[in-house]
Amino acid sequence: MIQFENVSKIYSDGTEAVKRLNLTVEKGELLTLIGPSGCGKTTTMKMINRLIEPTSGTIRIHNQDVLDYNIHELRWNIGYVLQEIALFPHMTIEENITIVPEMKKWNKQEIGRRVDQLMKMVGLDPEKFKNRRPNELSGGQQQRVGVLRALAADPDILLMDEPFSALDPITREQLQKDIRALQKEIQKTIVFVTHDIDEAMALGDRVCLMKDGEIVQVDKPQQLILQPNTEFVRDFIGEKKSPWQTAVDVIMDQSKSSVISHLQFERKNFNPNGVYIIVDDNNQYLGTYKDGQKLEHPELPNDIQLVHTTEIFLRNEIDILPVVKHNKVIGTLSYGDIVHYLDSKTKMENGVVQ
Ligand SMILES: Nc1ncnc2c1ncn2[C@@H]1O[C@H](COP(=O)(O)OP(=O)(O)OP(=O)(O)O)[C@@H](O)[C@H]1O
Ligand SMILES: [Mg+2]
Repeated sequence: MIQFENVSKIYSDGTEAVKRLNLTVEKGELLTLIGPSGCGKTTTMKMINRLIEPTSGTIRIHNQDVLDYNIHELRWNIGYVLQEIALFPHMTIEENITIVPEMKKWNKQEIGRRVDQLMKMVGLDPEKFKNRRPNELSGGQQQRVGVLRALAADPDILLMDEPFSALDPITREQLQKDIRALQKEIQKTIVFVTHDIDEAMALGDRVCLMKDGEIVQVDKPQQLILQPNTEFVRDFIGEKKSPWQTAVDVIMDQSKSSVISHLQFERKNFNPNGVYIIVDDNNQYLGTYKDGQKLEHPELPNDIQLVHTTEIFLRNEIDILPVVKHNKVIGTLSYGDIVHYLDSKTKMENGVVQ
């Protein structure tokens, strides 16, 4: 979707901000960019929509060099959320959100519908808020509007440069959830710059860690924890090494021994006591039963962190749960798996040789 090929940026004063960067962001992926101040994150980001031109190398979107796009169309089709809340103060919320659709000459009805739909998506009541001015909204609400403005004309790509850094932890967590939910729902390709390693790990399908204009490691969050490729990565991740931060798909049992097919289920070809997880012929998840009763949402998303599973285990009072990715069962997680994993991690961290 977005490809960097040997991209370098040397500013006119000789600063080498980005050095021979090679990186591909997949369609529908949320990639977080992280690294120390000055490592080149913003420069990397701004080269995507040509706010900064690379000194050498090529950036392609949909396999086409960004230089071959009409620059206005390129920018209209890439949503960009800035660090500072940059709403136009004299315009209403609705006017702020609809700037790009207006430029693209969408019809009025279409624009009206879009505003309502977007505002509802992040829990802002359109009737209440759309005619207000930015200074009549809280900081968090303004940030949400900033995100909606970037999304308004339905771009394929969303660039977000530390969009939540000015916010308190609770609002920030709420907005992180919004972004996650949005991405699941609308499948945008998102590049998200942050200083905050928790944010990078929680949001990113993959995390790209940079240092001095270069990529040190780009990987799934759990891989950065389990297999940091340098000491720098290990230090940067810091206490995120905590086993509780590990995604469940690293620990789960892939044998799926408690999973049965719907045919077995229909023929009652299984032990009716205990827990069973049912899938169809395509491994699509159909449900989890315990002693003949269907459970309400016991499934674990594959990327959920271990620390967040306990509540689901407790709520369902069962000791095994299905791990689901794109509605397919990819494995199971049991209390036993967790205890075993925590035990081995703790021994490893304490230097106990097994
Ligand atoms: N216009 C410019 N002219 C010269 N040097 C620049 C310019 N813009 C940025 N730089 C330098 O390029 C390097 C990378 O800057 P960039 O803004 O990409 O870093 P960053 O990773 O986004 O940092 P931060 O986390 O502080 O936002 C820095 O050393 C910075 O000082
Ligand atoms: Mg920056």
